Amino acid sequence: MSLFKKNKTKEFDFVLPQHVGIIMDGNGRWAKKRHLPRSAGHRAGAQTFRKITRYCSDIGIKYLTVYAFSTENWRRPGDEVDSLMKLFKSYLEEALSDFKDDSIVVRFIGDKAPFSEDLRALMIENEESSKDRDGMVLNIAMNYGSRDEIVRAVKSISGDVQKGIINIDSISEDTVSSRLYTCGQPDPDLIIRPSGEYRISNFLLWQCAYSEFVIMNKLWPDFTPNDMDHALEIYSKRNRRFGGV
Ligand code: IPE
Ligand code: IPE
Ligand code: MG
Repeated sequence: MSLFKKNKTKEFDFVLPQHVGIIMDGNGRWAKKRHLPRSAGHRAGAQTFRKITRYCSDIGIKYLTVYAFSTENWRRPGDEVDSLMKLFKSYLEEALSDFKDDSIVVRFIGDKAPFSEDLRALMIENEESSKDRDGMVLNIAMNYGSRDEIVRAVKSISGDVQKGIINIDSISEDTVSSRLYTCGQPDPDLIIRPSGEYRISNFLLWQCAYSEFVIMNKLWPDFTPNDMDHALEIYSKRNRRFGGV
């Protein structure tokens, strides 16, 4: 099965995943190694995000989900959270317009409510202005937590049961999937975590049931298109069985 787009810039001699998830981790350690403030690590990480997103779009990845800010990241010191919010704002104002040239569809997954009004407006504007494009779907997970996502799905389904819109017996795995932020999208085939941590940190818990994981030791700001190729190659050698033989 070929998953390449017509305008692909590179040929691979193996099949690419359709949906890639990336836990963009290691910005703080990258900065610490250089005796810089953590905010400098986040700025460097944002540049990597820009580069890797374009690269994924160029090589024909159909869905890319990047973990930018978790529901637990609000626990960080106020100045770090403030610097991240400023960075998100400048990105939504400037860099995301880059994605226009690549026909990237931008979507935010997570609860927008706690963000400032101007940030929320920018998120909605980016979603609205990109929704009719035909390129890669980029899900940016911001204030995203998969447990929170699942609780919302449960509440939404229970509400419909209470109103008599759906019957308990008709609830299926598809019912749950359709109430998640990723509704209508395939589950991630590959989840990459740079920075060497072997954990999922509340990312796509339902959706990752059969994802392949690739943990890499590079810190996110140092992650390059070559590292992406390497992760894709590792993925291509995995034997996915989905419980079969
Ligand atoms: C990921 O890098 C960025 C966010 C969570 C916002 P970290 O800030 O977690 O970097 P480390 O893990 O401390 O190195
Ligand atoms: C996960 O990284 C969240 C993002 C990359 C946005 P964390 O750095 O928050 O995860 P833990 O705390 O190491 O599990
Ligand atoms: Mg981290």
